[in-house]
Amino acid sequence: MESLLEIRNMSAGYEKKVVLSNVNLTVNPEDFIGVIGPNGGGKTTLLKTMLGLLPPIKGEIVFNESMREGSHHHIGYLPQVNRIDKKFPITVFDVVRSGLMSRKRLVGRYSREENERTADLLQKMGIYALRKKAVGELSGGQLQRVLLCRALVNQPKLLILDEPNTYVDNKFERELYERLRILNKDMAIMLVSHDVGTITSYVKTIACVNRNLHYHPSNKISTEQLAAYECPIQIISHGQIPHTVLLQHDH
Ligand SMILES: Nc1ncnc2c1ncn2[C@@H]1O[C@H](COP(=O)(O)OP(=O)(O)OP(=O)(O)O)[C@@H](O)[C@H]1O
Ligand SMILES: [Mg+2]
Repeated sequence: MESLLEIRNMSAGYEKKVVLSNVNLTVNPEDFIGVIGPNGGGKTTLLKTMLGLLPPIKGEIVFNESMREGSHHHIGYLPQVNRIDKKFPITVFDVVRSGLMSRKRLVGRYSREENERTADLLQKMGIYALRKKAVGELSGGQLQRVLLCRALVNQPKLLILDEPNTYVDNKFERELYERLRILNKDMAIMLVSHDVGTITSYVKTIACVNRNLHYHPSNKISTEQLAAYECPIQIISHGQIPHTVLLQHDH
């Protein structure tokens, strides 16, 4: 198996509630998949199931051997809603370093290599100056950068980002997408966003998630195709990208 993972005929959801059915998706090492769909369509549910945070209700996810690392999978995750307790007195450095999941010891010190790797990443992402700050003192955008570092510090083969542009300004958003483009040389990326107009110029393919998953093997998608995929979302774009707006309609 050359792909990183294959989702086969999967249903996913919660106790007594099937959110997604019949999902098939293959993720390859070079993929950059934009995940779009209306609120409540099941995007986050899909990601959580891929991460093993939720068991599939039906079907399976088959991982490539190279994706395993102990009991974990080699996936970096930037969650949609960050659950960091704002009052918790943990520093930026410690949050990023906590992403090193290969560590079997629960106590004990981090190695010099691990500390250096953490510091290098903070430098590269332009937040080294914040390293001693408590995360509770950060702005939303700064916190997003920190959490992105945490998702990256373990050098994952797949990076999953659930609406990373929620708290950030346009400048950071552009920087983020440019950085993702570079990261995509080394890892597969799945990016959830409602901003279809913008992400289509960065992603390579599109997955429309709305109770089912329709895979669109291109980054160009028309309003007609979105309608055919039952993916009623608005296309809003900034700057040079052609502007198309879809009407929201209920099912
Ligand atoms: N923990 C939970 N228990 C039960 N139902 C849930 C739970 N989390 C989400 N749901 C339901 O599952 C459905 C899909 O939710 P999900 O969060 O996957 O959607 P989404 O596509 O990520 O939406 P959004 O664009 O708003 O983030 C919704 O109907 C939601 O109410
Ligand atoms: Mg979501």
